[in-house]
Amino acid sequence: MINISDVSKWYGPFRVLTDCTTSIAPKDVVVICGPSGSGKSTLIKTVNGLEPFQKGDIHVGGISVGAADTNLASLRARVGMVFQSFELFPHLTVLQNLALGQIKVLKRNRAAAEAKALALLDRVGLVAHASKFPGQLSGGQQQRVAIARALAMDPEVMLFDEPTSALDPEMVNEVLDVMIDLARDGMTMAVVTHEMGFARQVANRVIFMDQGQIIEDVPKADFFDCPDARTDRARQFLSKILSS
Ligand SMILES: Nc1ncnc2c1ncn2[C@@H]1O[C@H](COP(=O)(O)OP(=O)(O)OP(=O)(O)O)[C@@H](O)[C@H]1O
Ligand SMILES: [Mg+2]
Repeated sequence: MINISDVSKWYGPFRVLTDCTTSIAPKDVVVICGPSGSGKSTLIKTVNGLEPFQKGDIHVGGISVGAADTNLASLRARVGMVFQSFELFPHLTVLQNLALGQIKVLKRNRAAAEAKALALLDRVGLVAHASKFPGQLSGGQQQRVAIARALAMDPEVMLFDEPTSALDPEMVNEVLDVMIDLARDGMTMAVVTHEMGFARQVANRVIFMDQGQIIEDVPKADFFDCPDARTDRARQFLSKILSS
């Protein structure tokens, strides 16, 4: 579904991604981890065209992300993205947040868009909050709205960039539970996270990045259960986050 082939990216002289190659098949749940600054966010943002790259190719469902004639708005409708900081529209209600992209990008009529929005709000347990504004919700609730908003576009794949790291600890699980349900429903997902409990429960692969490179790209069981086969960097990283 997603093919990332030999991708490199520079910010001026600084090489932020170096020859990254991986692929994500339908129903894969891939957890991406690694130290701060290793390029995790940059890599997933290249997938839906939020960050340009200078070398290599990325294909999503056969469409080349870097090609000049690719329609990025329709690509982004197929690739849902959820950020650490929610990025909801503050001046729109929850319902309007979920309806807007459906109406503008997918050309759904308002009634259909709102019906879909309410069904998804029900799925994330927030239908009672449909007419509130984001600022009236907790962080965990806002993040569940952000997930529902991305799902409203019927994406083929969902990308998450540290979706729980801005949340108070008691709200982390309500968001992870929604993500676990999604994974179990067969959604194709790439998730930047250090929530190793989530990785153990639903990931089928773990990617470990360091200094702009994909150092490890292995089945979950290998990552967690075969520490001796890991690179030193991955082992150090894992022991640090599992003991914190
Ligand atoms: N707009 C930019 N201009 C220059 N350098 C940037 C820019 N954005 C990111 N970088 C650098 O690129 C590197 C990778 O950043 P990125 O945000 O992808 O890392 P990350 O692995 O997501 O880190 P974190 O865990 O802290 O979120 C970092 O060294 C960062 O400072
Ligand atoms: Mg990041």
